[in-house]
Amino acid sequence: SRQSIIDQLAQVRVLPILVADDVEQAIRCVTTLAENGLPAVEITLRTPNALNVLREVVNACPGVTVGAGTILTAAQLAAVKEAGAAFGISPGITPALAKAAAESGLPYFPGTGGASDVMLALEHGFDVVKLFPSDVVGSTKMAKALGGPFPDVRFCLTGGVTLESTPVLLQQTNVLCVGGSWMCPANLIQSGDWAAIAQLAAAAAKAAEA
Ligand code: 3PG
Repeated sequence: SRQSIIDQLAQVRVLPILVADDVEQAIRCVTTLAENGLPAVEITLRTPNALNVLREVVNACPGVTVGAGTILTAAQLAAVKEAGAAFGISPGITPALAKAAAESGLPYFPGTGGASDVMLALEHGFDVVKLFPSDVVGSTKMAKALGGPFPDVRFCLTGGVTLESTPVLLQQTNVLCVGGSWMCPANLIQSGDWAAIAQLAAAAAKAAEA
């Protein structure tokens, strides 16, 4: 359910964002992330094979909460739901996509970059939103400022988040979690360096506890 996804994100506080085109590599990567303290992941729709990767990871990793990211259209939202995604995330928000997401029943987190986006999200019932690109829009300063008019909204900060910035960003009270690709970079996935990814995941999980 939406609430159980939010509860899990509030607990782990770091969401790895995966860009992968190869099913076997993606399964190994997600397994490694989960084994090292990161049991929820976002698979982006940024490669030609992403939908197939999503479907296969969902099947192969039943203990992992596998969401889908970079959802830009209602058609993509329907496709990730059909592929078994546990939740959906977008970099931004449109009236059409927000309406489709609210109707779909898939736990969904629209992207926002400022107050108007948050207002549109709230019109459709979404009070947990992604703030993107977090480092460009001012991350915790932005989240703190938006906490004035929108005290019940919580943010998932993504875009430019690092291991070093994670503990600082997570101190802001209306920040639910951070997301990022730093613990599963493309070069390590392609070279199959699962030991390095394990280390990055464990460090990220530790940073979230701090
Ligand atoms: C996202 O989809 O939120 C971003 O691509 C993640 O940004 P990062 O690659 O800078 O972590």
